Amino acid sequence: MATRRPVKIGIAGLGRLGKQHATNLAYRVPGAVLAAACSPVDEELDWARETLPDPRIHSDYEALLADRELDALWLVTPSSLHADQIIAALRAGKHVFCEKPLSLDVAECERVLSVAREYPHLEATIGFMRRFDRSYRDAYEKARAGTIGRPFMVRSQTTDQNDPDGFFVRFAPTSGGIFLDCTVHDIDIARWFFNGARATRAFATGTIALHEGLRECGDVDNGVGVVEFEGGRLAVFYASRTMAHGCDTHSEVIGTGGALAIGHNPRLNRVEIYDAGGVRSESTPTFFARFEDAFLNEAHAFVQAVAARMAGMPPVAAGGATLADALEATRIGRALREACSTGLPVDLPA
Ligand code: NAI
Repeated sequence: MATRRPVKIGIAGLGRLGKQHATNLAYRVPGAVLAAACSPVDEELDWARETLPDPRIHSDYEALLADRELDALWLVTPSSLHADQIIAALRAGKHVFCEKPLSLDVAECERVLSVAREYPHLEATIGFMRRFDRSYRDAYEKARAGTIGRPFMVRSQTTDQNDPDGFFVRFAPTSGGIFLDCTVHDIDIARWFFNGARATRAFATGTIALHEGLRECGDVDNGVGVVEFEGGRLAVFYASRTMAHGCDTHSEVIGTGGALAIGHNPRLNRVEIYDAGGVRSESTPTFFARFEDAFLNEAHAFVQAVAARMAGMPPVAAGGATLADALEATRIGRALREACSTGLPVDLPA
């Protein structure tokens, strides 16, 4: 009987999301040991020393790659670095989990897939965590079981609470813009419910409602996209950085025999406030509050998949997005970005 040993993980990137992942890996994922942390920023390394259970600290990625004790790397670095860092991780013999998107560039995604084919024994997955959210997963299983007939339409949105400090304006030069940063999740969800159907054409438009600073890098703070898929399937996407009430990310899958609505009311919890203004709930303030369990579940799944490989067992389906799924999400996200900036439909050839 094969025995499993803990998966030793090194995390790169300890920013807004990296700290959350690091805390999960260090304290909430059985079978994982967060053995090293890497960031070029001193304050982030101080945070790691104070908060994490004694990880080895590296101030550059090369040193993390060279850390021979590590089985896997966990990348929460700027999107513009993902492709090169995944390739370097695979070449260093490490399993790799990387945050979305795989890359901002389709050719770079293809390069990652080509290198990954040389290392079929290594796990490589991209963090489309919505696939691990309990409600999305339940809806997916219902759709698979035929509850709504043939799903032919997905309406999905990723909308963040307005940040008056404009964090994402500073973040925009490396984020790839609203379609590659936000809508990429909705694209992945549509492809998931459509069983990986191929997208054929994209339309998009957008506006700047509040954050003029985005104009400089050709971005918008509210974007709308329509994507046609083979077989007459359609997806309608909305992304926003300017919601007043909170992070309101939800989806709807419409089929020939019914529809599934996932997370339409972005309420924080089950408390309703009855007051002079009526009856209301507070909203999930951030993507992390909304998807806290999904981030944890995706870490469990990755660690279990890597542990099985390390124990010489047949690969288990981790249930996350593959590199090929992530490539498609980038291809469609780029088409939406182009459609938004030119005002013209963009064909997505086979
Ligand atoms: P951030 O800017 O707060 O953090 C980036 C981190 O990378 C910082 O710790 C920075 O010091 C570090 N870094 C920069 N260059 C590095 C290098 N060469 N080697 C190692 N570390 C380096 O950004 P944030 O918001 O944490 O996003 C990081 C990634 O996570 C992005 O790709 C983003 O798309 C993704 N993300 C995913 C979300 C989701 O819903 N799944 C939500 C938010 C972010």
